[in-house]
Amino acid sequence: MQLSAQEFILLRDLIRDICGIALKEDKQYLILQRLEPLAKTHKCSSFSELYQLLKAESLNTALREKLVEAITTNETSFFRDIHPYETLRSYVLPHLVKHHIMRRTAGKIPVNAKIKIWSAASSTGQEPYSIAMTIAEFIASGSASGFTNNDFRILGTDISNEVLSKAIAGSYNQVEISRGISPELRQKYFIESKGNWIVSPKLKEMVEFKPINLVKPFGAIGIFDMIVCRNVLIYFDDKTKAKILETFYDMLHENGILLLGAMENTYCLTDKFKSFHAGKTILYEKRHQH
Ligand SMILES: C[S@@+](CC[C@H](N)C(=O)[O-])C[C@H]1O[C@@H](n2cnc3c(N)ncnc32)[C@H](O)[C@@H]1O
Repeated sequence: MQLSAQEFILLRDLIRDICGIALKEDKQYLILQRLEPLAKTHKCSSFSELYQLLKAESLNTALREKLVEAITTNETSFFRDIHPYETLRSYVLPHLVKHHIMRRTAGKIPVNAKIKIWSAASSTGQEPYSIAMTIAEFIASGSASGFTNNDFRILGTDISNEVLSKAIAGSYNQVEISRGISPELRQKYFIESKGNWIVSPKLKEMVEFKPINLVKPFGAIGIFDMIVCRNVLIYFDDKTKAKILETFYDMLHENGILLLGAMENTYCLTDKFKSFHAGKTILYEKRHQH
């Protein structure tokens, strides 16, 4: 199938409109490679026909969902890049607990309020489950007296229902489980079943999943102590990145922490956050300048 310059522009703009992913001129091959199978399944003989079909659909329909699934990269792994999780345990969790207690003592939050962490663009769940394991280990080590796993809630969200279903099932094959997880943690937090490894109920209890498209208005989902948004902003243009970062700022408690991916930062996008190094990790804190 051929992709004309005109077809590329039409599909590129539609993709940006649906999910924010900004494809540069040199990404024509991506459309060719990833959308040709979709076009063929829907009996389209050209990309223009596929475009017309997509255009005729109203929002969030099956074909648009397949388009998003074809064009997005879902690559992820447990404890991706390692150091952010070391920093989570050594610096961020004590920081979140400290500020949570201060807010509670000042009567700013209910006594039974949870420490809330949002994994925005959580793909197949490895990221929120790695956060949950880090918290469970932190609690088990007695580092936050008076706190239990039940004082923490993790929300995992993604635009793709396909990856969300896998995340909710929490079932990983041998290859997936061997990426990033030590045998000790695997033994502790997963149950083996027919060659797959399923997240244990006590870990699942800490995590909830929801579909959220970061480039569309998504309504009130609460105020968070930490937002983890890794390896998705890189696909968006600067205007979209800036808008999402401002939304994150508004959705954090004072002294809340934002964690981005290794290739992402707030530079030239927003100057609202205070950035600093904690070990090897760059963190962004919501801190009012007095
Ligand atoms: C490369 S994965 C990153 C997964 C995980 N955060 C990590 O760092 O390992 C990117 C994820 O972003 C999701 N995504 C792409 N566009 C999105 C959007 N507009 N809103 C929410 N999620 C989106 C994709 O479905 C995919 O699961």
